[in-house]
Amino acid sequence: MLIILKDVSKWYTENNGNKIVVFEKINLSIEKGKFVSIIGESGSGKTTLLNLIGGIDSVSEGDIIIEGENIAKADEESLSEFRNLKVGYVFQNHFLLRGFNVLENVLIPAMLRKDFSKETFTKRAKELLSFLKLEDKINRNIDELSSGEKQRVSIARALINDPTFIIADEPTGNLDPKNSETVFSLFYDLVKNLGKTCIMATHNLDLAERTDLIIRLPLQ
Ligand SMILES: Nc1ncnc2c1ncn2[C@@H]1O[C@H](COP(=O)(O)OP(=O)(O)OP(=O)(O)O)[C@@H](O)[C@H]1O
Ligand SMILES: [Mg+2]
Repeated sequence: MLIILKDVSKWYTENNGNKIVVFEKINLSIEKGKFVSIIGESGSGKTTLLNLIGGIDSVSEGDIIIEGENIAKADEESLSEFRNLKVGYVFQNHFLLRGFNVLENVLIPAMLRKDFSKETFTKRAKELLSFLKLEDKINRNIDELSSGEKQRVSIARALINDPTFIIADEPTGNLDPKNSETVFSLFYDLVKNLGKTCIMATHNLDLAERTDLIIRLPLQ
């Protein structure tokens, strides 16, 4: 198993002391090389689950074992290395940096690497951008792209460090059907042809049906 959640609980404490319990002792595992979707009503915890698996939020209790490493117990240094090298993040709002061009945005996660080389990663970024059919947009400013193009740039950025798995939080939420299909097919390709693992939260049940495994929240 690539990812194992063991008795994971997650709660938030509001300013007035109220405890909002999102997960109580949940257990689940995700196999390597699978395309997994997470579905459930708004507020059911899809984003929370992705953020826990991606190491951007911390559990209240329990363990999250990813490739043998317990990220729930990891120190800040190994956690930030985990986030940057093992996980690719794609969000509904792409979070690209305005004022930077396409190539620069894709290179940002690579620049955080200890072994960053401009030449190597520029070459890789260009390959990814061609794969994503953005080769003629490399020097464009982010503001000059359509939503579908921005989302493809954010996928290139997620892939620049060749992560083990990709977490995508409603990646097609802001896209029209045609662009949704393009983005979905890209993820599908990454899983089926490149052996990546992809975990996607979505409200689109038709897309979820086409994945290998559907996780329905709340878990029974
Ligand atoms: N930082 C926070 N502080 C307090 N409560 C939070 C926080 N983040 C999320 N929650 C609560 O946790 C629950 C799960 O939220 P989450 O964002 O994971 O849901 P979701 O399934 O992603 O919903 P959506 O489909 O609307 O994106 C909700 O009740 C939400 O209000
Ligand atoms: Mg959400």
